[in-house]
Amino acid sequence: MIIKNVCVLGGSGFVGTYVVSQLVEKGYKVRVLTRKRERSKDLIVLPTVEVVEANIHDERVLNKQFEGMDAVINLVGILHERNCHSSRVDKPQARRGDFHENHVELPRKIVHACAINQVPRLLHMSALGAEPTADSGYLRSKGIGEHLVREAGLPDSKHENWYLNGPKFIRGQGMAVTIFRPSVIFGRGDSFVSKFAGLIKSFPILPLAGAGAKFQPVFVEDVANAFVSSLNNLETFGKTYELCGPKVYTLKEIMELVMDITGKKRSIIPLCPRLSYVQALILENLPGKMMTRDNLLSMQVDNVCGCDFPAVFGGKPAAMEAILPSYLGGENPRERYMDLRENAGR
Ligand SMILES: NC(=O)c1ccc[n+]([C@@H]2O[C@H](COP(=O)([O-])OP(=O)(O)OC[C@H]3O[C@@H](n4cnc5c(N)ncnc54)[C@H](OP(=O)(O)O)[C@@H]3O)[C@@H](O)[C@H]2O)c1
Repeated sequence: MIIKNVCVLGGSGFVGTYVVSQLVEKGYKVRVLTRKRERSKDLIVLPTVEVVEANIHDERVLNKQFEGMDAVINLVGILHERNCHSSRVDKPQARRGDFHENHVELPRKIVHACAINQVPRLLHMSALGAEPTADSGYLRSKGIGEHLVREAGLPDSKHENWYLNGPKFIRGQGMAVTIFRPSVIFGRGDSFVSKFAGLIKSFPILPLAGAGAKFQPVFVEDVANAFVSSLNNLETFGKTYELCGPKVYTLKEIMELVMDITGKKRSIIPLCPRLSYVQALILENLPGKMMTRDNLLSMQVDNVCGCDFPAVFGGKPAAMEAILPSYLGGENPRERYMDLRENAGR
């Protein structure tokens, strides 16, 4: 199978921008579907990229946009719902919020539209820790979506698709599916590390929820390379890959690394579970939703891989120590001047 035309959903986001750039470098023709074309200015200027404004939740739109495509890459995901009512009491089958719409219903529609258009290849972005039974609504919905996509690529599956009224006819279509489960992703433009860098810059003391939560952050270029290099690689068909960097850190250790790199020493106060909950409850109700109770639930499970970075994608994954200075230490001269003034108390 030689893939040339690739449709990317979520291509305007942090990871998507890197995936699309690497696709272009490798000579693919790319169609990016987005809700707001004007927000994708960086992509519009790339050669061989067509940015289409579309409502991807409308199955008729997907059917039309997937016509003639050799592969579809789904990167759509959200970390917060508009109304943060996720809690462990929610039943997986009962919830029909934003997580369900984007992580379950959308993959279902994508699989369906791929089948109708006989798109032979589908790459799907899940997340490390995603499980249909997870306490966190984010991880639970990602887990259900991931399972649904995997089923679509398994013609001989004996498993019942018990949690959806799912489109069973999709089974047996022979679509080659590859699923990716990264830990938290870092790189220029990320929200995770950059958010902490912003906090460190703004506050002298940092009360930290989930300080002991473990992560194995992976570089965005390594994630993008895994997607792009798997497209035409038969060895990756039907496989699920966990993607992690070379080192495990607690959240507190990530904060300390960011402090070292930015040269700003701050006091970190790890919060107990009860105070962590209160902090998340407050933050999820503030603009920007810095943290939600659902994020806290997801941090109760270690976000680490039990294996090395998949050899099939070649090379070793990059370490945070090697990459963070390139975008956290690179403030412009005026910002450095303001920091010097602040440190001097003027
Ligand atoms: N970043 C991480 O650390 C991390 C770790 C593990 C897994 N992931 C997964 O990786 C994927 C990409 O993450 P990211 O960090 O690149 O996210 P991002 O920057 O927030 O981008 C998400 C993309 O999803 C689309 N999107 C968001 N809400 C949507 C909605 N309601 N309807 C339609 N499209 C919507 C957006 O497209 P438009 O705005 O153009 O429509 C955007 O391009 C997600 O599936 C995420 O769960 C990320």
